[in-house]
Amino acid sequence: MAHEKETIATWNKIAELYEEKFMDLDLYNDTYDAFCAAVGNRKANILEIGCGPGNVSRYLIQQEPDWHITATDIAPNMIALAQKNNPSANCFVMDSREIGKLEVQFDGIIAGFVLPYLSVEESRHLIADCKKILNNKGILYLSFVGGKTEDSGYQTGSNGDRIYFQYHSLQTIIQTLIDLHFEEPQVFTIAYCKNDGAQEMHTIILAQVK
Ligand SMILES: C[S@@+](CC[C@H](N)C(=O)[O-])C[C@H]1O[C@@H](n2cnc3c(N)ncnc32)[C@H](O)[C@@H]1O
Repeated sequence: MAHEKETIATWNKIAELYEEKFMDLDLYNDTYDAFCAAVGNRKANILEIGCGPGNVSRYLIQQEPDWHITATDIAPNMIALAQKNNPSANCFVMDSREIGKLEVQFDGIIAGFVLPYLSVEESRHLIADCKKILNNKGILYLSFVGGKTEDSGYQTGSNGDRIYFQYHSLQTIIQTLIDLHFEEPQVFTIAYCKNDGAQEMHTIILAQVK
């Protein structure tokens, strides 16, 4: 779809700006800590989906230097930054919609704010694909912005670049996880202050494979 191409081109273009703004943001650290605790203190194999400039992977590696991290993103410029920021990680370009093709099993998968760039159907597919490549008792971390699907649409940055933003229903995501045989998920809500000063509630979900 046209809006997908434009959204990906925008992510690629603003990679350095995103790095500047979000590389050291600590707002979500408690939820990353909860992910680390749920995976447990072991030599885990971890996949990051939509890694951006590698901010989340860098935090995970700082907490758990023994983890083996694979970090993926659809935007090549994001991957170049993620690899620079995480020399020990294996970073490569991959569309989240292709993740089911990976022939590796993971102990944990973290997808920070990727669902906002996937449709409801693509998000369901992503969760199903994650289930396929997670080990027994594996942990899935997802974050998104809750809201009505019909409010989804283009958001325009100060430089005029546009990104198509998809809101998701928490109930739908939880039901998808339950249908796919995850345990009842843990839900966190974090208030995020946008550039215009408005507050947006961000939802983070941690779910374990049964
Ligand atoms: C909001 S950033 C999140 C970066 C990082 N995970 C974080 O939480 O700060 C969204 C990232 O998702 C990537 N992305 C968007 N659509 C994607 C797709 N279909 N497959 C993989 N990555 C995608 C973008 O390129 C961007 O780097």
